Amino acid sequence: MYASQQDELINVKGLHKYFLGNHILKGIDFSANEGDLISIIGRSGCGKTTFLRCLNCLEILDSGTIHIAGITLSRHLNHHITEENNPSNNKKRRVLLPNLGMPKEERLDDDFRLKARAIRLKVGILFQNLNLFPHMTVLENISRPPMIVKGENRDQTVPRAIGLLEKVGLEKFMDRYPHQLSGGQAQRVAIARALAMSPQVMLYDEPTSSLDPELVQEVMEVMINLHKEGMTQIIVTHAMNFARKASNIVIYMEDGKIVEQGHPDEIFDNAKDQRTQQYLSIL
Ligand SMILES: Nc1ncnc2c1ncn2[C@@H]1O[C@H](COP(=O)(O)OP(=O)(O)OP(=O)(O)O)[C@@H](O)[C@H]1O
Ligand SMILES: [Mg+2]
Repeated sequence: MYASQQDELINVKGLHKYFLGNHILKGIDFSANEGDLISIIGRSGCGKTTFLRCLNCLEILDSGTIHIAGITLSRHLNHHITEENNPSNNKKRRVLLPNLGMPKEERLDDDFRLKARAIRLKVGILFQNLNLFPHMTVLENISRPPMIVKGENRDQTVPRAIGLLEKVGLEKFMDRYPHQLSGGQAQRVAIARALAMSPQVMLYDEPTSSLDPELVQEVMEVMINLHKEGMTQIIVTHAMNFARKASNIVIYMEDGKIVEQGHPDEIFDNAKDQRTQQYLSIL
């Protein structure tokens, strides 16, 4: 059964990204429905982090279209003319090269910049570590950002922060500082902090890979509970057990492309693409 266009919270078409002249994302087509919990797996360097960062505009796509949380961003490769391919030099064939490198925010037009900013507000992202402000208590870490970024007042943000701490099972830790938490607790606070901004989508880049095995489960549980509540989540992970058991879709990426995607059982037991089979066979 296919979801209707309306259910699609994310739709990406022909996404390309270059870094320093290297073609990193090579035409990604992707969609996610509201409530999906999608795991992205693949070898180191295949572009998983870059893809997540493009989704919430921490990196600006070079080409393609990203529709996410009701906002659509489109961009096409700017071409520049070098000495080598200058058309006035008619001895040489005219070749248009993409304008490589990170586009500076100031080179983007106002409308694009505003949309990118709006996307960052609606799409939460969590990294492996370094997610909390060290000089703020747990409660401040969660209640302050909506005050600073969205101009909300303390009367709104503090009760919401306490509610979110209850959700991640850490209400007793609200007065502690980040260095007084275990790695698993810190990641749960970081999730609560991202949720305090009322995101429509949550992205996680290997959220448990720096944790001891016994702490992984408590962070995973938070994501599983959010899935039950209908939050749309995308997780880059090397935790195959989690990808298989918790997600409703698994994506295998290789060399800047999505090679295969499907239900976890399909991918893990019955991958159709040889590249996916080979990757899974060496795990
Ligand atoms: N800011 C950057 N500048 C230049 N190259 C970059 C930058 N960020 C990533 N890259 C390159 O892009 C490629 C993809 O990197 P990315 O971090 O997306 O991979 P990944 O799939 O997340 O890998 P891992 O599993 O190791 O985290 C790599 O070759 C990397 O060196
Ligand atoms: Mg990565």
